[in-house]
Amino acid sequence: MRTVYGRFLLKAMLIAPLLITLGFADGAAAKDKNPCMAKNPCAAKNIPIRKNPVKDPAALKETGEKLWLSVALGTSGASCSTCHPDGAGLKKEPFPKYIKMPDDIVTVDQMINFCMLNPMKGKPLAWNSREMTALAAYVSANAKESVAAPVNPCAAKNPCSMKNPCGAKNPCGMK
Ligand code: HEC
Repeated sequence: MRTVYGRFLLKAMLIAPLLITLGFADGAAAKDKNPCMAKNPCAAKNIPIRKNPVKDPAALKETGEKLWLSVALGTSGASCSTCHPDGAGLKKEPFPKYIKMPDDIVTVDQMINFCMLNPMKGKPLAWNSREMTALAAYVSANAKESVAAPVNPCAAKNPCSMKNPCGAKNPCGMK
């Protein structure tokens, strides 16, 4: 009798904390599943992108401009500016997009790292580095080239129907 009772008590003592823990865990999981249950989700402690967040856009712009001119980013002796002086070659069409050189649809960060690895012969920049953010900011601020081919009125099929857009090259002006 005594032993049976003892065993039961022992089992109850082992199972009870387990049930209590499961109950709490369930409650916590349910809370995670529904972020709206939190009073103010923005006040939650979030995992940061980096230890030192970037908050000053003017300072970031300055870093981007310095990096653009830096030959120390890679080992090929070139800077971004060697091939893209004042942002030459940076197109207005937004990323992600297909770019011929990598032969791939890339985000701006992926294209920056493609140029870091290949023409620059350097190491890829960490996705969450200040350098990556600064170069991406430079690219978006200086991407001014139009993707559309420049308008050439002389390429029109019948230049004679226009008010001489081609000057001396106008075949209509020749005998
Ligand atoms: C040796 C020359 C060279 C160097 C150095 C170079 N690039 Fe490029 N980059 C290119 C070429 C060529 C293209 C165009 C590829 C294409 O359209 O197929 C390009 C394209 C890009 C583009 C995409 C432009 C667009 O909108 O289509 C970005 C962004 C870019 N480079 C960033 C950089 C950055 C950042 C650096 C410096 C870390 C850099 N490049 C260094 C040659 C270079």
